[in-house]
Amino acid sequence: MSIETNADLTGIKNAGHAVAVTLKKMRDYARPGMSTQELDEYGYSILQSFGATPAPMKEYNFPGYTCISLNDEVCHGIPSPSRILKEGDLVNIDVSAELDGYYGDNGGSFILGQDHQQLQSLVDASQEILNIALKHIKSRVRISDVGGIIEKEAKKRGFKVIRNLCGHGIGRKLHEAPEEVPNYKDRMNKSRFRKNSVIALETFISTQTKWAYESEDGWTLTTQNKGFVAQHEHTIIVTDKEPIIVTKENGI
Ligand code: CO
Ligand code: CO
Repeated sequence: MSIETNADLTGIKNAGHAVAVTLKKMRDYARPGMSTQELDEYGYSILQSFGATPAPMKEYNFPGYTCISLNDEVCHGIPSPSRILKEGDLVNIDVSAELDGYYGDNGGSFILGQDHQQLQSLVDASQEILNIALKHIKSRVRISDVGGIIEKEAKKRGFKVIRNLCGHGIGRKLHEAPEEVPNYKDRMNKSRFRKNSVIALETFISTQTKWAYESEDGWTLTTQNKGFVAQHEHTIIVTDKEPIIVTKENGI
């Protein structure tokens, strides 16, 4: 969507605030021994306190309030009573929700406790690259140029990017135009960021595979044991200068 009124600006900021606070609180709440369902239900209680509705469930009938993906799972992991968090897990929580007709979306990967799998450098790279990419987004910049920056920064750190997952427009729905904000330089994509548009920018930084694969549950995307992927995501408003980040409170 494009921000046209003060009500739009307030609406997007409020939705961004709700998902950002929820993500931060979920990360702080996560403990070894806890099931991903318990963590998800905690997240739902935070969203409810804002009056926000979980977006994946509302828009796609996703079987959970938030997406929680562990280890070789990349995204859209289904919260479950039988998935128990362990020390050293690579955990990704992605929270998206609707509040008063506006949507916010944010996510982040982190290591739970001790870094047994030695993945902190991957997590740090994803977070740093998101922030570098955000600094380059302004009106009239090509979407493919930002993808190129993400890809180049990943390569510089010895990592790859996932080619079949990307950022997206957001606002009045969870996914809107521009449909694809890729993590690589897509030479076919000639479109540019537009002033006042609302974008969910998300990294998918990978140790090994360039592709995420669908699994049998019909939701979860995994690396099929081809390494690990870290993701960090902010919802932003494009301006003539640096973008306004509406999910800042998530601490990413
Ligand atoms: Co998301
Ligand atoms: Co998103």
